[in-house]
Amino acid sequence: MNYGRIKVEPLAPTIGGEISGVDLASPLDRGLFAEIHAALLDRKVIFFRDQDITAQQHMAFARNFGELEVHPFATPSHIPEMMVIAHGEKNRGNENVWHSDVTFRLRPAMGSVLRGVEMPAVGGDTLFADMNAAYEGLSASMQRMLGELTAIHDFQRTFGRGMSAEKLQEMRREHPPAEHPVIRTHPETGLKSVYVNRLFTSHIVGMNKDESTRLLEFLYSLASIPEYQVRFKWRNNSIAFWDNRAVQHYAVSDYYPQRRVVNRFTIIGDKPV
Ligand code: SIN
Repeated sequence: MNYGRIKVEPLAPTIGGEISGVDLASPLDRGLFAEIHAALLDRKVIFFRDQDITAQQHMAFARNFGELEVHPFATPSHIPEMMVIAHGEKNRGNENVWHSDVTFRLRPAMGSVLRGVEMPAVGGDTLFADMNAAYEGLSASMQRMLGELTAIHDFQRTFGRGMSAEKLQEMRREHPPAEHPVIRTHPETGLKSVYVNRLFTSHIVGMNKDESTRLLEFLYSLASIPEYQVRFKWRNNSIAFWDNRAVQHYAVSDYYPQRRVVNRFTIIGDKPV
């Protein structure tokens, strides 16, 4: 890939690229947008350093890539679209489960743009797994079988505990379980990825419980194969921008009782096919 304006340093063979030569405080012109977009599609997750930007500038950057969602289960922040994920002495980090964002939605996230606001001195890294590489690593027979399957994604695997029965019912009406292909085809690159995750996928359609549970366990385990991964070490003002259609992520929860605060804007994607 030839870039004229930015530099992209690959961090692993198929996934991860550190971008330099960009100040995200300034609006993106078409040329710069096109290069960052191309880098995201090529590297699947891209990283920026030293972006001391405001929440509004962070939001404006994310908006270049599509409409932003308001997370239905996040604690509201002063900007509705901004999800503040804060952990410390009173609440240990709990995003240490492999997942792709909001797959319980009918139109799950295209991308997530996460900025490190207050990072621990050591620890609190985020791992990303290339789910296209995971798909490519499967045998042709397994790929064929999975290609015919769909799975149900349900917010209640993760969210909704402690909600009143009425509130839960209302949330279920607004966010009914979503059925997505087990293997999705990326709408821009055409690459296929394994698209089930431990956080939200409840079962595979048309299989008995035991078959579904065992097959899902196998598919979940693919994200933890180091050959498919890149690991990001945060600093304050680092940004990670990942393509949820191609990767899963896992926030390492090893920094307790240190504080770790990140802000996320999430870009709405299309219906997986
Ligand atoms: C997330 O799951 O969106 C949070 C990832 C992180 O905090 O590194």
